[in-house]
Amino acid sequence: MAEQTSGDPLFRSHDPIFNRKELLHVGHVPDEDRIVGRDDEIQSVAAEVGAITRGDPPNNVMIYGKTGTGKSLISRHVATRAQDAARSNEIDCAVLYVDCSEANTETRATRQLALNLKEQTGYQQNIPLRGVGTMEYYQHIWEILEDCFDAVIVILDEIDKLDNSNILMQLSRAREAQKTDTYIGVIGISNKVQYRETLDERIDSSFGHRELFFHPYDASQLREIMRNREDAFQPEVLEGGTIELCAALAAKKHGDARKAIEILKEAGELARRTGSETVSEAHIKQAQEVAEINRIEELTSGATVHAKLALYALASRIITGGRETYKTREIYERYVGICELVANDPITENGLYRQLKEQAFLGVIESEKTGGGRSQGSYLLHRLVTDPKHIVKAVRRDSSLEELPTYDQLHETSPSATNRELDLDSFS
Ligand SMILES: Nc1ncnc2c1ncn2[C@@H]1O[C@H](COP(=O)(O)OP(=O)(O)O)[C@@H](O)[C@H]1O
Ligand SMILES: [Mg+2]
Repeated sequence: MAEQTSGDPLFRSHDPIFNRKELLHVGHVPDEDRIVGRDDEIQSVAAEVGAITRGDPPNNVMIYGKTGTGKSLISRHVATRAQDAARSNEIDCAVLYVDCSEANTETRATRQLALNLKEQTGYQQNIPLRGVGTMEYYQHIWEILEDCFDAVIVILDEIDKLDNSNILMQLSRAREAQKTDTYIGVIGISNKVQYRETLDERIDSSFGHRELFFHPYDASQLREIMRNREDAFQPEVLEGGTIELCAALAAKKHGDARKAIEILKEAGELARRTGSETVSEAHIKQAQEVAEINRIEELTSGATVHAKLALYALASRIITGGRETYKTREIYERYVGICELVANDPITENGLYRQLKEQAFLGVIESEKTGGGRSQGSYLLHRLVTDPKHIVKAVRRDSSLEELPTYDQLHETSPSATNRELDLDSFS
């Protein structure tokens, strides 16, 4: 990370755009004085886990909120401060962090906890990486906690990605079940509020917990978050108005601080690649498009080819037909034509409907039920949450689908005709 200190002149080049680029990395935890507009949330999390610092049992807490609302940051921040405060009261407190989008099974999560604890202590026993079950990892966890710590804060980030929630039960019952005397406080984090309902079904009352909701940032908060990291850039590289524009774009979309920072970074990289000495509003706009396409690609990366084709079908109808919303049937008709184009066997209309519902869950499309009168029954209307242009780009990044018409080709298909079918022949 020390860009300008490398001894080899080959790597010593001065970066004309960035000064401390690491400030714009996703995992970067800013100092306290760079954290903006989350005082209440910090207080609330501290109130739940804070008892640890006085040698009392903590509460468990679940944090819900969309991506980029500071959940991971605030959790880590408060946990670290609690650890420091505990230490100054001569209480040994550990902080453990598990990203459940990676460690997405109970075995993986417990293995990571055990290894992490071993790393923090002088624990002598070998902890096998494979070939052992969850129970063995729990054994190590209880033993290390018992030997070395009075208290521990366990952050389970993106907990909705975990295949089951047994770990919550194990952690919250550990004392009662006399596995360890160490106080355990769990901070669970989920990007999906829907997880709340499934959680209630999955766990029993032993995981008593409070709930906190983090809200998206508004433009002025995003502006301040970025201002606080302006020194990621060389002096006078950011043109006037760029941070304001970036904040406005990010606020309009999702109030997502991560996206705002990513756009800023991408704009800097664009400027550097094109040999520009400053970052302009044009760079920000271009970076925002790239970021949006990346977001869509990220969201759909795990989706099947048919889900992608369904999205493409809806996008292409919007582009050529000019309407905002389409019925499942209308999307299906277009989808069948597109399958022909890429030599793929279409799935059934009902199958497609399920794909669309899945996409709705991911937040790429919105579906709303419309009453069609008593005889017709109700039907769903689907709309894209993003610019159809971005969907077309993101879908075409799949190498098996790059033959599909580009946005410009679709656009030319029918300049203003409404609801006209895609002319498949013109692309073959
Ligand atoms: N209030 C804030 N002040 C400063 N930076 C923030 C704030 N909230 C989020 N960030 C930054 O935005 C990015 C995303 O935040 P993160 O905590 O990962 O969001 P979440 O976990 O809710 O998806 C991180 O780089 C983080 O440092
Ligand atoms: Mg997070």
